[in-house]
Amino acid sequence: MSIFWLLLIFCSSGGLTDAKCKFPAIFNFGDSNSDTGGFWAAFPAQHGPFGMTYFKKPAGRASDGRVVVDFLAQALGLPFLSPYLNSIGSDFRHGANFATLASTVLLPNTSLFVTGISPFSLGIQLNQIKDLKAKVLEPKPYGNLPPPNIFSEALYTIDIGQNDFTSNLKAIGIEGVKQYLPQVSSQIAWTIKELYDMGGRTFMVFNLAPVGCFPAFLTELPHNSSDLDEYGCMISYNNAVVDYNIMLNETLHQVLNMLQDASMIYVDTHSVKLELFRHPKDHGLLYGTKACCGHGGGAYNFDPEVFCGNSKVINGINITATACEDPQNYVSWDGIHATESANKLITSAVLSDSYSHPPFPLSRLCDLHPIG
Ligand SMILES: *[C@@H]1O[C@H](CO)[C@@H](O)[C@H](O)[C@H]1NC(C)=O
Ligand SMILES: *[C@@H]1O[C@H](CO)[C@@H](O)[C@H](O)[C@H]1NC(C)=O
Ligand SMILES: *[C@@H]1O[C@H](CO)[C@@H](O)[C@H](O)[C@H]1NC(C)=O
Ligand SMILES: *[C@@H]1O[C@H](CO)[C@@H](O)[C@H](O)[C@H]1NC(C)=O
Repeated sequence: MSIFWLLLIFCSSGGLTDAKCKFPAIFNFGDSNSDTGGFWAAFPAQHGPFGMTYFKKPAGRASDGRVVVDFLAQALGLPFLSPYLNSIGSDFRHGANFATLASTVLLPNTSLFVTGISPFSLGIQLNQIKDLKAKVLEPKPYGNLPPPNIFSEALYTIDIGQNDFTSNLKAIGIEGVKQYLPQVSSQIAWTIKELYDMGGRTFMVFNLAPVGCFPAFLTELPHNSSDLDEYGCMISYNNAVVDYNIMLNETLHQVLNMLQDASMIYVDTHSVKLELFRHPKDHGLLYGTKACCGHGGGAYNFDPEVFCGNSKVINGINITATACEDPQNYVSWDGIHATESANKLITSAVLSDSYSHPPFPLSRLCDLHPIG
C-alpha cells in the first residue's frame, strides 16, 4: 500500500539541500516515442532527415532531434540512454533504453516484415532488463555496467501502448481495438509488478497521446467532418484514447496498492500533447495537425504511400517525402511522432507538477539541469 508523495522519499534521505532527487539511472521501456536507437541498431539503418535538428545526422530517434526521455535524462544530469540493443559504444552505467520503434505491449502475432510491428514487445523488454541485471550480478561484471544497487535507485519510465491502440484501428475499428485494451493496461501493470520484484521502486508511466490529432491518422482512418472538433482532431478516436487512459490509471492504482513502498507517477502527456495540437501558437509553434516531414502538402502534409525520408515512384513520378525548413514550428514531425521542439515543451510540462498524478514537482524537488 502506498501513497506516493515523492517529497517524503526525498526528505527522508537526508537534508533538503544535499543530493536532492538523485536518480543515478533511468531504465526506459517503450516504443518510437522514446526509442533512442534500439530499433535501428537491430534493423539498420535509419536515414535522413531524421535527426536533422539536434544531432545533424540520423540518431535512431523518430524525430528531428531529441525525444522526451533524452530531455528527461539531461534534466536529471544523466547522459543520453544507450539502447540495450546497440552493440557499439554503449554505456549502461546510468541506465538503459529497452524501447524500440513499433513496439507493442501485447506479444505481436505478426512479423515486422508483414505489418511493421517490432518483435521487441514489452515482455521482451522485461526479459532484457532481467538479463542486464543477471550480468550486473556476475562476479566480474563488464566495465560499462552499473552497480547492483542501481535497480532500486533508478527511475523507471514506461511509455508504450500507442501501437497496440493504432496498429489495428483501420482494420477493426475502435470497437474491435477496445476488445483487447484491458489486456494492454493489465500487461503494463503486471510489468511494473515484475520490475518491483527486481528492486524497482519509482515508476513514471506516460499515458496515451491524442492520436485523433495525428496527421497520419487524420489521413488514414475513416471519419467524416462531423467527427472533427473545432481544432481539427477526430472526436471518436480521441474519446477512445481518454477511455483507455482512465482504465490504465485505474489498473495501475490497483497494482500499486499491492506494492509496498513503491512510487508511481502517472504522467498525463495526453493533456500536454492535446494542448499543443489545439493551441500551437500559445506555445511558440505554428502548426498543429500538419506534419513537417511528409509529402502532399495540404492540411496534413501526410502521404500514406511515402513516409518521411522515403522515395517512391508513383505513376512514373519519383516522389520524396522531405522535411520542412522550420521543424521548430511544428508539433508533428512526420505525421506520427513529435518534433524536438514539441518534445521539449512536453518535457517541461512533465517536469512541472501540473500533469503528474499524484503531483510530482520535479522542478522544485530536484536540482534539475536546464534542457536547452
Ligand atoms: C492477431 O491476429 C488476428 C488475426 O490474424 C487478429 O484478429 C487479432 O486482432 C490479432 N491480435 C492482436 C492483438 O493484434
Ligand atoms: C459520421 O460519423 C459518425 C461517427 O462515425 C456517424 O455516427 C455518422 O453517422 C456519420 N455521418 C455521416 C453523414 O456519415
Ligand atoms: C487515477 O486513479 C486514482 C484511483 O482511482 C484516482 O484517485 C485518480 O484521480 C486518477 N487520476 C487520474 C488522473 O485519472
Ligand atoms: C528518387 O529520388 C530520390 C531523391 O532524390 C533518389 O534518391 C532516388 O534514387 C530516386 N529514385 C528513382 C527510382 O529514381
